[in-house]
Amino acid sequence: MITFINPSTEKPYIRFQSLYQDALANDQRGIEAISVSSYDLKTNEVEARYVNLKYITDNEWIFFSNYNSPKAQQFSAHKQVSALIFWPSINTQIRIKALISKTSIEFSDMHFKSRSKEKNALAISSNQSQNIDSFDEVEMNFHQTLKSMTTDTVRPDFWGGFSLIPYYFEFWQGHKNRLNKRHTFEQKGGEWEERFLQP
Ligand SMILES: Cc1cc2nc3c(=O)[nH]c(=O)nc-3n(C[C@H](O)[C@H](O)[C@H](O)COP(=O)(O)O)c2cc1C
Repeated sequence: MITFINPSTEKPYIRFQSLYQDALANDQRGIEAISVSSYDLKTNEVEARYVNLKYITDNEWIFFSNYNSPKAQQFSAHKQVSALIFWPSINTQIRIKALISKTSIEFSDMHFKSRSKEKNALAISSNQSQNIDSFDEVEMNFHQTLKSMTTDTVRPDFWGGFSLIPYYFEFWQGHKNRLNKRHTFEQKGGEWEERFLQP
């Protein structure tokens, strides 16, 4: 589930919320999954991965991750990303171009405090995407961290939120005979320019 906190009332955000409600009403599984693609300046490659979109606050789309992970390094060197959602229950794709940055320390702390001890133990104990000799080691690190945690355990600096600020949306809706509807919004000079595209 995505938590909406005073979401923007601009047109593409209203459209997004309405589709989200439709997908929710149609029991869409994994409704918060969003694929985020980033560009790696060092290897000249583009990489995609799913993350869970946890909040939409004003015009920011927020998910959480490890700040030392490959994706975090890619985001800091190249702030433009492409994001993608597909909700099969309503045959809808949402395609986004956005700029990405870290959320505030306060927001990351607030979310960390709201999570289960187990989830936080994993966030603390995992050097995300680094090589490891065996899965036993992952489990051992997790259980040791879980055991050592107290009510005073705070969010580590290497874990927190990322905030996407979209500047382009395409809402794609599949229809019979491939008469698919494509509706785009592009931010230009503070306004959203709206277009319809051929299927
Ligand atoms: C549905 C789904 C949701 C995921 N959500 C997150 C997430 O919110 N944060 C995260 O760090 N990784 C998440 N992952 C794992 C990432 O896809 C990825 O494996 C991990 O973040 C490492 O990516 P990186 O090596 O590009 O940094 C999720 C995976 C799936 C399949």
